[in-house]
Amino acid sequence: MKVSLAGLTKSPSKADLFVVGCFKGEKDLKAIKKIDPAFAKVAEAAISKKRFEGKAGETFSSYQAGYRQASEILLIGLGERKDFKPESLRKAVGTMIAAANARKALKVRVFADSFVGGDLPAGEIAKTFTEISFLAAYRFTPYKTRKKDDPPPAPDSVELVTEAKELFPLVRPVMAHAEKVAKAVLFARDLNNEPGNVMNPPRLAQEAKKLAAEKKLKCRVLGLAELKKMGMNGILAVNRGSVTSPALIIMEYGQGYKSNGTVCLVGKGVTFDTGGISIKPSKGMEEMKYDKSGAIAVIATMGLVADLKLPLHIVGLVPAVENNVANDPQRPGDIIRMYNGKTVEVMNTDAEGRLILADALSFCAEYKPAAIIDAATLTGMCHHTFGDKTCGILGTDQKLVDALMEAGQKTGERCWQLPLWDEYGECIKSHHSDLKNVGDGYAGTITAAMFLKEFVPAKTPWVHLDIAGTAYCSQNRFDCQKGATGFGVRLFAEALSNWSSESISAA
Ligand code: BES
Ligand code: ZN
Ligand code: ZN
Repeated sequence: MKVSLAGLTKSPSKADLFVVGCFKGEKDLKAIKKIDPAFAKVAEAAISKKRFEGKAGETFSSYQAGYRQASEILLIGLGERKDFKPESLRKAVGTMIAAANARKALKVRVFADSFVGGDLPAGEIAKTFTEISFLAAYRFTPYKTRKKDDPPPAPDSVELVTEAKELFPLVRPVMAHAEKVAKAVLFARDLNNEPGNVMNPPRLAQEAKKLAAEKKLKCRVLGLAELKKMGMNGILAVNRGSVTSPALIIMEYGQGYKSNGTVCLVGKGVTFDTGGISIKPSKGMEEMKYDKSGAIAVIATMGLVADLKLPLHIVGLVPAVENNVANDPQRPGDIIRMYNGKTVEVMNTDAEGRLILADALSFCAEYKPAAIIDAATLTGMCHHTFGDKTCGILGTDQKLVDALMEAGQKTGERCWQLPLWDEYGECIKSHHSDLKNVGDGYAGTITAAMFLKEFVPAKTPWVHLDIAGTAYCSQNRFDCQKGATGFGVRLFAEALSNWSSESISAA
């Protein structure tokens, strides 16, 4: 798909669908009258008969061969002008793509000026149209057998048209940036929607290497032998039940920017989580193919930061395993010595994410990072708490937490903080070892993060994102079909783009 920007012309080549935004209660269609008087008449009649009022999400369309811009024109209600928010615009763009899709309209043209309202500046509008058009039009189809007469996916182009041509130099770079971000999100969705029988740890490592070659990133994959040599026993213990090899994928960008600081991104890469010997119930277990979401958010972000040429040294670390029950799986009660020397009693083999993340977090010390951010589909509890709309965030540095929360507000990938008070650490102490990998059954998202905290290098600002709820959706949404959402890529990119000494507390 292509999203482009052009000047509004009176008699252009015709699109398949022309889209106009309309605020509630604004009957004056002056701009539309200028563009297409015939349509303006129909729209005015519809408004005066209350067939269309401009309520948020409402649509009205009219088809006449004689219309100038396209034979079909679609009005999208934007609600009250004063209430118009980034989220309202995102939804309106989703509505536009759904309408184009339902009509098999390949060529969509949008009167961008009609969406200018509230506090949203032109750049924000162009950015959102670009980003959400790509996200909403995305489908995962490699395993769908196409029939000969299936129409091609629609739309295949979205053209924003405006009378404000003087804004082109401002808006074009914003759109180019948004396209890069959106494509990274789609790349993440593509990898994440792949099932566990395809996207196993070696394949994930291969994808990371391929991306690294394309984007000129450094990429190193530590395999079974190296992990054994290094004593990465958290990663090894979880993968014991799998017949495929584990991996620690390390991607590196911007070594020349070390003086600006190093940020380590760590992502949970469980390519499938059966639960291991503490096996999960079969209902809904297929969703555990998304247990690699954190890993993929990190990998896709590494490609994106290279595209955006961010002036930072960024290291992406992905411990990749399959939590299965074949081979010689770990048993509840096993005690393992982790990479940083601490011992852990494995009370429940389904709490595997924290075991592999622990080793990767400790390993970050090699890079002397200014900050570590991890993303993981870590706890069902987080999914229960926040649903699929909000990501749990916990961390040791309030400035870093705030920076990510702000990035969340800006991108729509919103986060909400939970505490990491010492008292929550009591229940993960073990009788026969230093730690155990589950708490007392309460506050599961917090105790999981308390466990991770034990493995974060000393004095290193760290933030943990529990994306168990936000990584995938079980129903179609305006900007995402059922499946992987690509959550985390926009959040990481925004936080890293705004990186400064203000992003973390002074050491
Ligand atoms: N991958 C799951 C967490 C999860 C659940 C992600 C639902 C997405 C949706 C994780 O490995 C897990 O199984 N956690 C257990 C921990 C428990 C055994 C302490 C959980 O949340 O039940
Ligand atoms: Zn699990
Ligand atoms: Zn898991």
